Amino acid sequence: MNTATDGPQAAERLECRTIPPARPVSTLEEDALAGLVNSRPRSLPPKYFYDARGSDLFDRICDTPEYYPTRVEDALLRRHAAHIVDTVHPFHIVELGAGTSRKTRRLFDACAAAGCRSVYAPFDVCREVMLEHGQGLVADYDWLTVNALVGDYHAGLDHLPAFAETTLYVFLGGTIGNFSHDEAVAFLTDLAARMKPADRLLLGADRFKDPARLHAAYNDAAGVTAAFNLNLLNVLNRELEADFDPAAFAHHACFNPFKRRIEMYLASLRPQQVHLGRLEHVIEFDEGEAILTEISRKFTYPALVALLEESGLAVLTPYEADGGDYSLILAGRG
Ligand code: AVJ
Repeated sequence: MNTATDGPQAAERLECRTIPPARPVSTLEEDALAGLVNSRPRSLPPKYFYDARGSDLFDRICDTPEYYPTRVEDALLRRHAAHIVDTVHPFHIVELGAGTSRKTRRLFDACAAAGCRSVYAPFDVCREVMLEHGQGLVADYDWLTVNALVGDYHAGLDHLPAFAETTLYVFLGGTIGNFSHDEAVAFLTDLAARMKPADRLLLGADRFKDPARLHAAYNDAAGVTAAFNLNLLNVLNRELEADFDPAAFAHHACFNPFKRRIEMYLASLRPQQVHLGRLEHVIEFDEGEAILTEISRKFTYPALVALLEESGLAVLTPYEADGGDYSLILAGRG
């Protein structure tokens, strides 16, 4: 029942708007032409993993015993959300690459406990996913307003609204590790330029550790990561009218100690030809030839501090998991 003392009803607290790209962002056709047809080693950006099936497979990766980052980050958020909310008092919480907003609920729990009525702005590419999960959020938190922003953070942040009050930007999951060093600096510099003096960034990043544990996290015994990687070929078949045979490729993930990063590949099991219908190209794979599908960088703590500094940001509070498995860093403009 809605009485005079109740806040606005759930539906009135959820809205959604489109953020136009700040710069042109390449299409799958362009990325496939550049990465699959015209360069060696062949490569594709990891953002194409996340169709409906890929997003579901990623959720299942997070439940495998080997893939620790999601659980460790969630535990860190649970432990420190109250401190984060108490020190920042965010009016806006803007999440870059929000996905299902599952982890961010720790922050809303802390806001509720502290009486901090933040407005949540999840920013992601899929309107349907954000609306679905936004409905759950406004139902579960009767004080929360969700202003979902539909867009792609790879296309720049210039067209995000200018948030007048204190804003906490969150970028979780270790996704910063998918960027090359230069891409990460460009992205964080773009973000730092938008931040007012009291604004903060909460960044989640996976740390360098025993290579055997890193290797296991990307080679789970149940084969979920392999299915996630191979699903990229289904995306290419559908979107590019290609004829990849997923059974003719193998998942390969290894830790490169020189670059301190996981490298994930799809390796051709035999010499073969693949037609990329929409591009009117045929590509030839040698036996064992591989497509680089993802890098996932693993940071030492000093490397994280240096990355933030190079981007015009300074660490305010580092929260780290026991043994240094993972870092959550609260940073401000340097
Ligand atoms: C969601 C991008 C952080 O790099 O660990 C998980 C994606 N790939 N297993 C990561 C992923 C293979 C994940 N990120």
